[in-house]
Amino acid sequence: MKKIAILTSGGDAPGMNAAIRAVVRTAIFHQAEVIGIRRGYDGFIEGDFLPMDANSVSDIIQRGGTVLKTSRSERFKTRDGMLEAKHNANDAGIEGLILIGGDGTFKGAYEFAELSGIHTMGIPGTIDNDLFGTDYTIGYDTALNTVIEAVDKIRDTATSHHRLFFIEVMGRDAGFIALNSGIASGAEDILIPEIPTSIDAIVNRIEAGKNRNKSSFIIIVAEGDIPGGAYEIARQVKEKYSYFETRVTVIGHMQRGGSPTAFDRILASKLGVAATEGLISGRKNEMAGFIKNQIAFTPFSKTRKHLVDINEGLLQMAHMLGS
Ligand code: F6P
Repeated sequence: MKKIAILTSGGDAPGMNAAIRAVVRTAIFHQAEVIGIRRGYDGFIEGDFLPMDANSVSDIIQRGGTVLKTSRSERFKTRDGMLEAKHNANDAGIEGLILIGGDGTFKGAYEFAELSGIHTMGIPGTIDNDLFGTDYTIGYDTALNTVIEAVDKIRDTATSHHRLFFIEVMGRDAGFIALNSGIASGAEDILIPEIPTSIDAIVNRIEAGKNRNKSSFIIIVAEGDIPGGAYEIARQVKEKYSYFETRVTVIGHMQRGGSPTAFDRILASKLGVAATEGLISGRKNEMAGFIKNQIAFTPFSKTRKHLVDINEGLLQMAHMLGS
């Protein structure tokens, strides 16, 4: 394979730049040319291409976001959009395409590969950690650490004022960030979309804590929690139990930014190399992931978020430790 293109798509995640660097340098090492596609699938449709060399990825391993920029493209979901991208790829002589992103990105890649015959290879990049075929996605560890730092700070106020805090973290379909940041910050309760939330159970836990002289509480809420995010849960809890003064904090996009942790930089480097060498050696239409400390390739037909199970035992553990 002589010419490879690379793009980032969907929500940005810390460590995407480290993966771009690994892909570009690995491809060059194997004598392949690299074309960067700016702004994800939108840039692919518009032919927003730039040739990349080893120097174009200098000084980016430590930077958050993505130097290639990204988009959530509606146009690429249409046949016309994909045909436009195929036309641009053929004109530029692109033989293989590496995509860094999540579930939506790989769904698009799968359909594009069917339509164009161009070989595609995915690298999991999303803070949500909700992809089947890898134990960790790039950006998840950094986002977790950002959340923990914020919760530690909020706890100072919660303790000083005897307050009940509801802290909303990202994850519209998945509770990984909520569950593991809750464990790591010693939260009193954790609410995730995978497990139905009972307002009565939350109230009972707060009351039991108060009876043991607990004077402040941190409840981590995944944004996708049902019946709602942190504001709605706080409102419903307050209706039933108003002993503690209540506050809500939504951490928001702070979780997506910042310099990647060592874990994310190393993961991104390993996956970038595996994806590029896999593509060059003839693998196609798969995601390079990391399972039980080994590189593993999973076909795009299986890299879906709804196939990922959350470990409910961890929630019980968090309740035990946070009570
Ligand atoms: O998929 C990553 C993620 O950060 C989700 O946790 C969140 O729901 C979503 O993206 C937010 O997307 P946007 O930045 O487009 O609002």
